[in-house]
This record gives sequence, structure tokens and C-alpha cells, in this order.
Amino acid sequence: EKGGYEHYMRKEIHEQPTALRQALSGRIDLDRAGVDLDLEFPQGCLESLEEIQLVACGTSYYASQYAAQLLEEVADVRATVEIASEYEFDGGRDPWRTLVIAVTQSGETADTLGAIRRAAGAGARTLAVTNTLGSSVTREADDTLFIRAGPEIGVAATKTFVSQVATLALLAVDIGRGRGTLSTADARDLLGDLRGLPGAVQQVLDEEDRVLKAAREFRDSESFFFVGRRFGYPVALEGALKLKEISYDHAEGFAAGELKHGPLALVTDKTPVLAVLTDGTRAGETMNNVTEAQTRGAPAIGAVSAGLETGSLDIGLEVPNVGIFEPLVANVYFQLFAYHVANLKGRSIDKPRNLAKSVTVE
Ligand code: F6R
Repeated sequence: EKGGYEHYMRKEIHEQPTALRQALSGRIDLDRAGVDLDLEFPQGCLESLEEIQLVACGTSYYASQYAAQLLEEVADVRATVEIASEYEFDGGRDPWRTLVIAVTQSGETADTLGAIRRAAGAGARTLAVTNTLGSSVTREADDTLFIRAGPEIGVAATKTFVSQVATLALLAVDIGRGRGTLSTADARDLLGDLRGLPGAVQQVLDEEDRVLKAAREFRDSESFFFVGRRFGYPVALEGALKLKEISYDHAEGFAAGELKHGPLALVTDKTPVLAVLTDGTRAGETMNNVTEAQTRGAPAIGAVSAGLETGSLDIGLEVPNVGIFEPLVANVYFQLFAYHVANLKGRSIDKPRNLAKSVTVE
């Protein structure tokens, strides 16, 4: 059932190219540089939006942070993200010009269901982005977009993260084209990068032995810091969450620029820094922050865009060129790193202590 893998998590990490192909399948029309998502919103509704609010928890929240940046950049629509358990919606001036998107793999997360109910109650349009047919969120929301990742058994979300972002990227293209804010040429570039994503992820999976080596080298560290900027920031947060969940080691993610505003006090030679150093995420500035940590003795591991020059890293892991999606590919290195650190320690990877796959209490 685990298809020869010792854990579902590793199987699901390796399923990412397939999951991505499924998310994109039949949805991209390169001729008109558009996408077809089969949404049933009334004609013109997405075009007249003033704001998109994404609500989610945990890994889905980090996917939403990535997606909000995509929506702003690609579709030029105001997009905000909120942790579902913190979300209050007062309706604003024109609730019907607000789209609230609940991003939830399981479709059963109580905090996320509560948030979307509050939004719907105040008159906003609602969209569910989920992996699960027939789940509660699909009944609560006006419309549903499936991420089509296939079942995810491991408690730690892996393939669904990348599928959520890819699906929301399609939505960003749809909205950008509908509003006329995304040009044909830019849409084609973006869709081309998106179609390159499964292959890019596969290339990273083929480097697994190098990640295993890094995990062996750093498994006994005191703490792990993940840093990135722009799209690399939610990926840093996600990298840290994955590691702490399954290895039980302390890990934290930071906006790279924040290191010097406090966390640097924690940095020693026992606190490796893992950095997203990809094109379009201000990698030069991120590298400056990494160098400051290195000066205090911290080992540095970087996921670096192919062809990008950085300063010296202890371990450099190459990320194939797929534009705005490169941090998503970097994330695959972080998933493998978390997996191997946890596996070397003999942790209960598919069912970490104290955690459940879907959290149905608020
Ligand atoms: C982390 C993880 C959790 C979930 C969170 C939301 O690996 O799996 O943080 O992402 O509980 O779950 P969904 O997406 O089902 O709403």
C-alpha cells in the first residue's frame, strides 16, 4: 500500500510530480493564455472583486500566504491572508465584492469552517480550495476548486501544499485574465513555468541522497532556522513546521530580514540556517543575512536557483528555473530534509505524537 516506501510521507513527497500534473490537467489553455477551472460563480463576479481574503490553518495557511502574493502580483487584486482561528469578518463596505477562500486539504478543519461561515454570514462570496470530495467545506462554500492531489495519509502535509499553491496560481491567472490585468505574454510565461513545475520537482527528488547526507551531518543540531524573502518566506515557515512536527526538534522560520532584529542572538555553530535563495526572492539580500549567521558559526544550507551566484554555503542545493514557483521547488528539499532527520532519529513519521490529520475542534 505504501508502494515500497517505508513511510507514507516519503511516498507522498515522491508523488508530487504526479499530484501537480493532476492539478494542472485539462485546466491550461495555452492558445488563449487562459485557464479553465469550471467555476460556477456568476458572470463578471471574479472581475469585479475588490479584495480576496484567504483563510486557513497550518501548512494550508503557508500555502495561502504564497498564493496571496501570487494573486497580488499576477492578478493585481488586493489579497490578504488570515489564520482561520483569528479571522473575523465584519462585512466591510461591499461584502459581495469580497471573495473569501477557505484553503483546507481535509475540508474538515473546524477553525477554517468557522471562518468561512462567518464570511458567508456577512454576505461575502466564498470559495473552497480542498483536496477532499464531499467534505464539509464543499457544502459550506458557494463554489469549490479541487486540488486533485490524491489521498494524503501522512499526518504531515506534503504534496497537498504544492498542489494548493499550483491550483491557486491557476485561479490567479484566471482572475488576472478576466480583469485584464495580466497580459497574454505574461500569462503564457507563467503557465509555462507552472507546466515546468512537475519536472523541476522530479529533478529535486533525484537529489535525495544529497539531502540525506545533509540530514546525517546536522541531525544533532540544537535548533534549525529557516529563512527566506517574498515567496521564500512562507516556504521558510513551512520548512520549519515540517521539521518540528516530525523530528520534534526545535525549528523556526523567519523573514530573512528579521534575523538581525532579534533571532540572531540564538545563532551558534549548533543552529544551521536553511535558506531559500531563488531568483525573484531578493536572494542577494537573503544571502547577506545568511552570511551574518555564518559569521556567528552557523552552518548554512541554501536552496539556490540554477545559475544564480551566491556567496559560500556549506551545502548548496540546486533549484531548476521555474520563475515564481522556484521557492515551491526549494520546499521539496526542506521536506526531504525534515523526513530524513526524523527517520534517522526513528520518529513516528506518519503519525507524529499529539497530532491528528484533521483537526475538527476549534
Ligand atoms: C502540517 C499539517 C497541518 C494542517 C492543518 C490544516 O503538516 O498538516 O498544519 O495543514 O491542520 O489542515 P487542512 O488543510 O486539512 O485544513
